[in-house]
Amino acid sequence: MMRTRTPAHLRTRTTAHPRTRAPAHLRTRAPLIAAVCVLALAIAASAQDADKAERTLNNSCQSCHDLRRIQVQAMDEGGWTKTVTTMIDKGAKIAKDDVPVLVDYLVENHGPLPDGAGKSIVLNTCTQCHDLKRIRLGRRSPEEWEETLFSMLNEGAQLTDEEFATVHVYLSRHFGIN
Ligand code: HEC
Ligand code: HEC
Repeated sequence: MMRTRTPAHLRTRTTAHPRTRAPAHLRTRAPLIAAVCVLALAIAASAQDADKAERTLNNSCQSCHDLRRIQVQAMDEGGWTKTVTTMIDKGAKIAKDDVPVLVDYLVENHGPLPDGAGKSIVLNTCTQCHDLKRIRLGRRSPEEWEETLFSMLNEGAQLTDEEFATVHVYLSRHFGIN
């Protein structure tokens, strides 16, 4: 935010009218307004970080392989830090300052998934059309997961009957309502 000197005509006016306390209804709201501003700034900053990370992914991480290699991974901060360091050793060009932002983004979008029989199906099949955010956030009952999986088949997801059953159990157990 740019800080400027108050223009002269306003300065004189303040002196002419003695400073008064803000009316009560404004005073009580001030902390709330401040909190909302801080939140808005935080959201703007995280959106900027996401843009920056996506630029790094597009510019630096695709020069040797496509993003599919990343989409089929589910790692925590330690795992992603190690992978990014390995990629830099292999020759990935990425500014040092951009590394933590990229790692945060990778953890948020390609973070760990619970172990279990359906994990590799989720990573290999469910990432073909969209990221896993909708799965992580979309807690459902077993009946609702079944319905969602049927609609994914309609969208074109390739699942054998066996994979369908396995991933259904996995999602119901780990991304259920309770
Ligand atoms: C200079 C070439 C190069 C660049 C640039 C590069 N990679 Fe890689 N990456 C590789 C190679 C080669 C492999 C395969 C390694 C293997 O199979 O042993 C790989 C494999 C991977 C894997 C699979 C897991 C693994 O450890 O084998 C992931 C995930 C990955 N890269 C992420 C990234 C990310 C994130 C970036 C951007 C920061 C990136 N790569 C940039 C060369 C590169
Ligand atoms: C062939 C592409 C494709 C594949 C593969 C796929 N999806 Fe989807 N998925 C979609 C599309 C398209 C939508 C958006 C549908 C909509 O918004 O109506 C979607 C939406 C979703 C949603 C949100 C649905 C909602 O009602 O909000 C979930 C959850 C989901 N998919 C889970 C999965 C799971 C789990 C898998 C792996 C078994 C999977 N998807 C594989 C295409 C796919």
